[in-house]
Amino acid sequence: MIDYHCHLLPGFDDGAADLDESLAMARLLVAAGMVEVHCTPHCIHGVYQHSPAQVLAAVTSLQTELEGQGIPLRLRPGMEYYLDEFFPRQLDDPLPLGETRMLLVEAPSQSDPQRLRANLLLISRKGLIPLFAHPERCRLLDEEDAGGELWGRLRQISGWHRAKSRGEGSLLTRIMNEGVLLQGNLGSFAGHYGAGVRQRALVLARAGRYHCFGSDAHNPVALQGFLAAGMQVAQSFTRQ
Ligand SMILES: [Fe+2]
Repeated sequence: MIDYHCHLLPGFDDGAADLDESLAMARLLVAAGMVEVHCTPHCIHGVYQHSPAQVLAAVTSLQTELEGQGIPLRLRPGMEYYLDEFFPRQLDDPLPLGETRMLLVEAPSQSDPQRLRANLLLISRKGLIPLFAHPERCRLLDEEDAGGELWGRLRQISGWHRAKSRGEGSLLTRIMNEGVLLQGNLGSFAGHYGAGVRQRALVLARAGRYHCFGSDAHNPVALQGFLAAGMQVAQSFTRQ
């Protein structure tokens, strides 16, 4: 399995604090069956500001460490871009996931739908594909979709019949129609973020809406808590 979202690089953001933590996380991922991991530190203006060149250098360095330790894990570069008002300038020098054209993005909880859609469209116009991180955890999508068309339909498909009144074209439906792909978190399936997030993740997975999955791991303790259970569920939904 491939991990498309992981805070594995040491000392880059709120993920692995140091090399020991990175190695511990890498060992857990390999033991669970991961063969490839995308290292995706946060890119948030004023909080975590690293250039693509710095990420590439750190990935190369950590890959060398893994090889030295005999840990068989292939690393790929990436970033998790925060879609706020400062995001557009990142498109001057974007860092897609590995060899793909996908750009991993997350929505700020305080963002408004117009800004979110505008940022997503900028990515598409750049010839890249927005990969929306953990939509099941996104409060904006959840609130926008409280009466939304897609959630209502997905709930019926999945047998979850607590559908609310249906609205016209939910935010999730609209961005997916505009070419946005979805990345689910393994921890969501394991209940790491609570029962509501788990239920939304299962609804999306049963409807085949996820393009790929990621650990979104930040430290070895939490990772160990959800990895096996999360991968088991995700693999049951992965089309081979
Ligand atoms: Fe993340």
